[in-house]
Amino acid sequence: MAKIITNGTVVTAADTYQADLLIEDGRIAAIGHNLQADGAEVIDAQGCLVLPGGVDPHTHLDMPFGGTTTADDFETGTIAAAFGGTTTIIDFCLTNKGKPLQSAVETWHEKSAGKAVIDYGFHLMIGEINDAVLEELPHVMEKEGITSFKVFMAYKNVFQADDATLFRTMLTAKQHGALVMVHAENGDVIEYLVEQALAQGNTDPIYHALTRPPQAEGEATGRAIELTALADSQLYVVHVTCAEAANRIAEARQKGYRIWGETCPQYLVLDQSCLEKPDFEGAKYVWSPPLREKWNQDVLWNALKSGQLQTVGSDQCSFNFKGQKELGLGDFSKIPNGGPIIEDRMSILFSEGVKKGRLTANEFVNIVSTNAAKLFGLFPQKGTIAVGSDADIVIFDPNRERTLSVETHHMNVDYNAFEGMNVTGEPVSVLSRGEFVIRDKQFVGTPGSGKYLKRKRFASDNS
Ligand code: URP
Ligand code: ZN
Ligand code: ZN
Repeated sequence: MAKIITNGTVVTAADTYQADLLIEDGRIAAIGHNLQADGAEVIDAQGCLVLPGGVDPHTHLDMPFGGTTTADDFETGTIAAAFGGTTTIIDFCLTNKGKPLQSAVETWHEKSAGKAVIDYGFHLMIGEINDAVLEELPHVMEKEGITSFKVFMAYKNVFQADDATLFRTMLTAKQHGALVMVHAENGDVIEYLVEQALAQGNTDPIYHALTRPPQAEGEATGRAIELTALADSQLYVVHVTCAEAANRIAEARQKGYRIWGETCPQYLVLDQSCLEKPDFEGAKYVWSPPLREKWNQDVLWNALKSGQLQTVGSDQCSFNFKGQKELGLGDFSKIPNGGPIIEDRMSILFSEGVKKGRLTANEFVNIVSTNAAKLFGLFPQKGTIAVGSDADIVIFDPNRERTLSVETHHMNVDYNAFEGMNVTGEPVSVLSRGEFVIRDKQFVGTPGSGKYLKRKRFASDNS
């Protein structure tokens, strides 16, 4: 059935204006005043912002990691995402050395099909480059519409790739039109620091942060940038946490390199002291790279404001405190890395960003939706409100106040990393391709209604 959203204030990355939206066949059919359509359902957005659905370019759902599997799968994770205003995610498909890439993609399709309630795509992890990978990669790109490759520079003996693999991935990405993504930390140095800490009996969660210093992130970021320049390729640095990395990205962009960067809500509002919480609670705040000293938060906010960092992803990678984070009791290196953020990403950015005057509402939309859609080959289908775009819409109350809590969140995990934080601004209703997924703060969607997205190839004028 056609729908008309009326009385709201439309906010895109470019504009803010009063208008009605007509939605037909899952797309935005018209934008204007006093729109009419026979039999259309009229949705009153009085007092609300009408935003393009969020695009979260960084999630790990149903992912095996650290001897366990993330607590949220594609059903619980995408429901939580929708509650938070996100209508598209791009999840990381893990590959296995010596095995066909396509088999890994099939595994990720099995995890997601019939479960996702919003649309989703996959990035592909590259752990090795050899003749078989080089032969298969273009076919996977063509068949699956996967146009971004992820290389880990850390997690030694698990995911870490060497520099030759990273460099050859960059050359391959340039040849075929893909964006290379890196987890930029020096895994070799970190492994040594971790061994040293454990040998000295330093086993508490705080040593996770102390053995992954900002220099290890800055060095790896700089190395990835220089290799990208050498390959004349393009790079997206995920989860940037600190000045050492953000400044290198800014310098590279100033030189005209094709480098983009993402940070995450946790690095904008939490700091390293969280890892010192007693009774092993610090384990709830174990991310890689780790939370940093508080002063880095201003660096990251300024980088978002000035456009040196372009996106905020969630890096959703949830593990329960009981039974999962606890795997690292007595040995911080065994704490599964990651946390639950998918639901609160947009609310935190709006509240801490727009409401506190750090970002305009248009910049907010750009950072949580439009830029990621452009970089990852989804724009203008996703990431904006325009005639012809998918009707992925968030009706967002900018004044509603609430407290983030495990008691009220929808993620399948036993804690909230932002417990007790007051935020202003909340999605009231969320539509995916014109159908309500969240209506008046109730889930009304259907597992399996989310569609797999084949994405366009990278183009250097994307962003
Ligand atoms: O700690 C993190 N970030 N966990 C998720 C995996 C990754 O490195 O992105
Ligand atoms: Zn990572
Ligand atoms: Zn991640």
